[in-house]
Amino acid sequence: MIDCVARAPGKIILLGEHWVVHGARAIAAAIGLYARAIGSRSHEDGIVVRSRELGVTEDISRECKVFCNLREAVNFLAKTSGREPWPANIVIESDIPMGAGLGSSAAVAVAFSACYAALGGLSLDFSLISRAAYESEKIVHGRPSGIDNTVATYGGFMIYHKERGFTPLSDVRTENIRLLVIDTGIPRSTGKAVALFSKRLNVLGAIGYRLLNIADSIVDETVRALKEGDPAKIGLMMDVAHGLLNAMGVSHEALEEVVHLARRLGAYGAKLTGAGMGGTAIALVSESNADIITKELVRKGYKVYDVEIGVGGVTYEGSS
Ligand code: MEV
Repeated sequence: MIDCVARAPGKIILLGEHWVVHGARAIAAAIGLYARAIGSRSHEDGIVVRSRELGVTEDISRECKVFCNLREAVNFLAKTSGREPWPANIVIESDIPMGAGLGSSAAVAVAFSACYAALGGLSLDFSLISRAAYESEKIVHGRPSGIDNTVATYGGFMIYHKERGFTPLSDVRTENIRLLVIDTGIPRSTGKAVALFSKRLNVLGAIGYRLLNIADSIVDETVRALKEGDPAKIGLMMDVAHGLLNAMGVSHEALEEVVHLARRLGAYGAKLTGAGMGGTAIALVSESNADIITKELVRKGYKVYDVEIGVGGVTYEGSS
């Protein structure tokens, strides 16, 4: 019998990647690709986690090779509720591609934590779930910013600043717009991209500082456009943000091909997202041209996900 189905979304960085490392703000958004945790209470000891996609089943209360991160979430939830970990069977599923900077591990951790909490009789407490998932993320990513687990939990749009933390954006209007998330298939290294960007910023000195201020102003202008429901303005801001990232050395030929193609076929705007130097691009499109642009990108050999942007966060899909 299934006792809970929890789902949590992936995320993209709409604007501000890299600059955020150096003190500017970034905007992240939840996207309509989901991880799910399908759980049942267990009368036997053990916390059994299974993924059909990975072909792995592990009892993480005994030992783990793949899901050790989720054990941290379990321990956090048990500790904060003053109990020993409770037994559970949880199946993990995800349509978020892994290793593409779309927050797949965080979405899994959030869905898993929400499901595990429910199986232990805890109510859905966003702050608790996000913190539990963060413990899991620390195993996967070392010292993550917390963007991924926060967006997977709360959904919507989030402004992030390294010191000031997260501010949810309310009253955003996303009618009739869609986001194409385009995987170039070029492997990326976040560490390498962050190092190159930082080096250039340093060499640029005062000019770099001005660019940083411009990147931060783009965030303000985009927030205004998001609230006004002005996709043309959001797209323009994305184009400008991409231009700056390109100038800082973190674009790639494939990313350039993708953004130019998307713009030529009528996208409001397009840019790389995340670390760059490969990896993923995003294009803001309308419901009427999403299909044509997708088809052309697929024809060129790219993998495209046509998703809603700013979707809700973690939720239970109901139990039977
Ligand atoms: C990587 O997804 C985003 C970067 O801004 C790095 C970071 O914020 O940690 C490039």
